[in-house]
Amino acid sequence: MKIALIGNGAIAKLVAQFCGARPTKYNVTAALVLPTDVTSVGAYPVVQTLAELLATKPDLVVECAGHSAVKAYGAAILNAGVNLVVVSTGSLADQTLWDEISHAAENSTAQLKLPAGALPGVDSLAAGKLAGIEHVELKSSKPPKAWAGTPAEKTHDLANITVPTVIFSGTAREAALAFPKNANVAATAALAGIGFEKTKVSLIADPSVTQNVHRLEADGAFGSLRLEIYANPSPDNPKTSHMAALSIMRLLEHEAAAIVI
Ligand SMILES: NC(=O)c1ccc[n+]([C@@H]2O[C@H](COP(=O)([O-])OP(=O)(O)OC[C@H]3O[C@@H](n4cnc5c(N)ncnc54)[C@H](O)[C@@H]3O)[C@@H](O)[C@H]2O)c1
Repeated sequence: MKIALIGNGAIAKLVAQFCGARPTKYNVTAALVLPTDVTSVGAYPVVQTLAELLATKPDLVVECAGHSAVKAYGAAILNAGVNLVVVSTGSLADQTLWDEISHAAENSTAQLKLPAGALPGVDSLAAGKLAGIEHVELKSSKPPKAWAGTPAEKTHDLANITVPTVIFSGTAREAALAFPKNANVAATAALAGIGFEKTKVSLIADPSVTQNVHRLEADGAFGSLRLEIYANPSPDNPKTSHMAALSIMRLLEHEAAAIVI
């Protein structure tokens, strides 16, 4: 399977290593990167335009770059008939972008694939939705320093937080748009479950945690769900859970597997 990447950061590096270790199954054809950072994190060329990326004839493009990349390239990739994996799911909280991308997916031969990322229980949420879900709430706790560079810096003295502190409370849409690098999990919960407005989200700076902790609860006709994950940070990016890259690898395994679970 020919895979093209967008991005050259922590997730791209791990996905490239996974593919590189399985050369009979996967071939990374190229990575689309920013002109300001053209380093390659694998043994493949980097390119700077979508036309060059699509010229490598990928079966699947994996976006692991950020919201701006989904906005810039998402619909065009689908419209070209190429399957697209979006890991920056928070970008899809932008209603205009969602309309554009979902329209492209529905009106092309390509599929938009959204990995679970660091969120536990995506299968249960999506299955439970078929019977009806009334309530979904996600509480995401990270060490205070993981919220550096976010709006929490303006509202809280992150360096001096000594007890678990809610730095944001609102809908999944508000969380995903205000915290683009830290609330993709909230968007994935909304997309798998009952949508961006009904999914409640709390973001917490907790000095007692060293991992990214996501607590998910859902109640509906299927019953009740309570799940928590203590996700290790990615080796190269503390804001990103290692699970984000692992969930893309699982998705790639599904693309090539005889048995899928
Ligand atoms: N779904 C999830 O659970 C989940 C979890 C973690 C991260 N994410 C998303 O994955 C993204 C990547 O994570 P990461 O840890 O690899 O980040 P990273 O910061 O290590 O790497 C991102 C890379 O993408 C490049 N980039 C940024 N914008 C680009 C663009 N428009 N075109 C091409 N390249 C671009 C940057 O130069 C950088 O090298 C995050 O920004 C976040 O949106 C999702």
